[in-house]
Amino acid sequence: MSALFIDAKLGDEARRHRLYSGDIFIFSSTDATEALIQLARTMLEQAFAPHDPCSIHKHKSAEEVADILAKVKPAFIHHPECKRLIPLIMRERGIDLEKLYFDVPRMRSAYPSHFLSSGIAYAFHPHRDTWYSAPMCQINWWLPIYPVDPNNAMGFYPDYFDVPVKNNSEIYNYYEWNTKNRATAAQHVKSDTREQPKPQQQLQGQSLRYLPPPGGMIAFSGAQLHETVPNTTDMARYSIDFRTVHIDDVAARHGAANVDTRATGTTMRDYVCAADGQSPLPEELVRMYDDGTATDDKILRFGDRLATA
Ligand SMILES: [Fe+2]
Repeated sequence: MSALFIDAKLGDEARRHRLYSGDIFIFSSTDATEALIQLARTMLEQAFAPHDPCSIHKHKSAEEVADILAKVKPAFIHHPECKRLIPLIMRERGIDLEKLYFDVPRMRSAYPSHFLSSGIAYAFHPHRDTWYSAPMCQINWWLPIYPVDPNNAMGFYPDYFDVPVKNNSEIYNYYEWNTKNRATAAQHVKSDTREQPKPQQQLQGQSLRYLPPPGGMIAFSGAQLHETVPNTTDMARYSIDFRTVHIDDVAARHGAANVDTRATGTTMRDYVCAADGQSPLPEELVRMYDDGTATDDKILRFGDRLATA
């Protein structure tokens, strides 16, 4: 059974323990999350002016929107304010920044399904992030930038948290993916034909939709089965997400139980310390997660992964 906590006053350690057991946390917006979504709104609204970013698909072609997103998304990821605000958001949650490591934030978009659902605005089928080489101790944080609807939100399958799902995650190696990513990015290819880890069975029931207000935030384990709901509304959805790991859990190998993940490689080199925004995890800790598939020329560092962001 998975519980949903709303504005819980739990300490970070107790909260992580619960996240690793499949519980999900929702938080109201704060000064720092408001500042982050305001930054995202300003960038989107300037890029799509004079139109509303949520109805831009009524004014521009899919190609034009993709071209604009290809500039806005990396600009957001690398905006110095982002790097400043995420540690503030984590501190508001009572987290010790010296021990927290985070990956670059992504800005995501989900357009009405007839419009733009491949390439840079790819709608994610049900997956666990661990099928994409995330460690079992990864925690995901997700914030909507504008109001969300059940039919353009994220969907969760918490009943599958500790139930194996038949899947093909063994096809995924993080470094191989990065190498191909670079090639794809260089060719400016927008559609994505690469085979991805997916469930290989019918899932029972519909995904659950949690709808925090803009600036509100959902926290969940990277092992949680989740998806981008195919957008059947007439409004575009924009959101921000980022991932974190806690160094004590990395060292102690604490995290969710692995019920069905067979991806190889690790994203452990992607995270930087929230206290200084630059130090990677100590190499001896990262090595604990290496499986022999890492080679120097294939390893990316913080912020390198732009093509699919
Ligand atoms: Fe995901």
